[in-house]
Amino acid sequence: MRFLPTEAAARLGEAREGFSRAALSAVYGPAAVHAADRGDYRSLLARCGDDRLGVWTRLFVIGVPVGRDAAAAAFAPLGIEEALGCGLLEPVGDEVAAGWGAQFEGDRILFSDQLPNTTGGRHREHVLGVGGASKLLLDLALHDGAATALDIGTGCGVQALALPAASVTATDLSERALAFAALNADVNGVDLELLQGDLLEPVAGRRFDLVVANPPFVVAAPGSGWTYRDGGREADGIAAELAAASTSLLNPGGTMQFLANWLHVAGRDWSERVAAWFPETEARVWAVEREVLDPLDYVRTWQRDSGESHDAEQAARWLDWFEANGVEGVGFGFIVIRRIDGPTEIVCEAVRHAVETPWRDRVGDWFAMRERDLEPETLWQAKLTVAAGVALQQVAAPSAEGWDVDRQWLQQANGMRYAEEVDPLIVGFLGGCNGQAEVRLQVRLLADGYGAEPAMLYAQLYPVIRRLIERGFLTLA
Ligand SMILES: C[S@@+](CC[C@H](N)C(=O)[O-])C[C@H]1O[C@@H](n2cnc3c(N)ncnc32)[C@H](O)[C@@H]1O
Repeated sequence: MRFLPTEAAARLGEAREGFSRAALSAVYGPAAVHAADRGDYRSLLARCGDDRLGVWTRLFVIGVPVGRDAAAAAFAPLGIEEALGCGLLEPVGDEVAAGWGAQFEGDRILFSDQLPNTTGGRHREHVLGVGGASKLLLDLALHDGAATALDIGTGCGVQALALPAASVTATDLSERALAFAALNADVNGVDLELLQGDLLEPVAGRRFDLVVANPPFVVAAPGSGWTYRDGGREADGIAAELAAASTSLLNPGGTMQFLANWLHVAGRDWSERVAAWFPETEARVWAVEREVLDPLDYVRTWQRDSGESHDAEQAARWLDWFEANGVEGVGFGFIVIRRIDGPTEIVCEAVRHAVETPWRDRVGDWFAMRERDLEPETLWQAKLTVAAGVALQQVAAPSAEGWDVDRQWLQQANGMRYAEEVDPLIVGFLGGCNGQAEVRLQVRLLADGYGAEPAMLYAQLYPVIRRLIERGFLTLA
């Protein structure tokens, strides 16, 4: 299925030239664009004329119809009949309206079923535009020179088009999604290999340097079927399947990154459930939980998403399923897997606060740190420095002798912005981390002060020092 042949899609790309976020700001002013982002279109309505930019803005930003003649001029060299024929425009009396949504992502434009100002799935094969989850994955995806990349469940192609690899493959179950991805590739002048099929089936036996997926991860209501969000698996099976296949999809050293929902089942920590999905060897895994919703909030959220909030019976069936399966919450987050040599290592953590973005830098730092030698003998000889932006914060109460420190913790201003509680011994140790003295000298000095054996003291300090390095509080020279 194709909406437009490549040659006609290229003409649509030509017609769109000049319709960009930067152009909207330059012509109508940043305040008008900012207001429109918040749903206030008064300024744009007053200022958009019948010129090319005005017509594209009316159709795809404000979501109002325009005159047919103005549209014909604004879409040339694509013919108005071609635009109507493929679904890009729809007739509304004497005027035409947008049949598809068009969103900006960087310099690219992305057509999809996401009409301006609408929420909720329209039809079962609805092809999503660029939403919050898409943006999270865009922010996460590594840009470190992969030769081959794969995007599973590409939808309109938003991830695939942004992947900076020499060869990009994109798959989807939905023919309509692949038609949008093909159109968007042509309009933006990007080459993609597009394959149709269920999850991993279209790339069976192949390996890639980078794999990304914003899969249909919703833990669906029994019997529901929105292709854009329900992958046709029970519970969080889609994430489990991706995790299990990760190492066999990756070249050595390659990375897979995907978004997921996972269940919080009564009596079991979520991290055990997620950790159980991976092969026993060759995976280094970082699973980050960004939020947890209780079943009712989860059901209401996804019912709003698909415009089914009115369906109390569906909500009841969905909630019954959660209850019967002992589900107390549904976590949302991302998982990054690197194929390594050796036994699998898994770190699952909850990160609820805002980190310094882009997330890809945090992912890069996390893996870079795990690739360093942090064994006790190595750290014994290392010179450490407190990382830039780390501050010691204290809560203290006045006493007869001065201030009694009740709690103290390290706080990062950048990067992961972690906070970590520390005891006076560690605070003393950190005071000597100026990049000059080796750890062994610092430990000996501290041991003298405490009247302790250096080896015993180091045995106590080592796990904390290692953790502080891994979490970016301390840097190695
Ligand atoms: C949440 S959307 C993601 C779209 C896009 N990649 C993004 O980041 O916004 C999930 C996509 O997976 C596709 N999909 C659904 N079930 C699938 C399956 N079993 N195998 C492959 N793709 C599937 C849907 O058609 C949809 O395009």
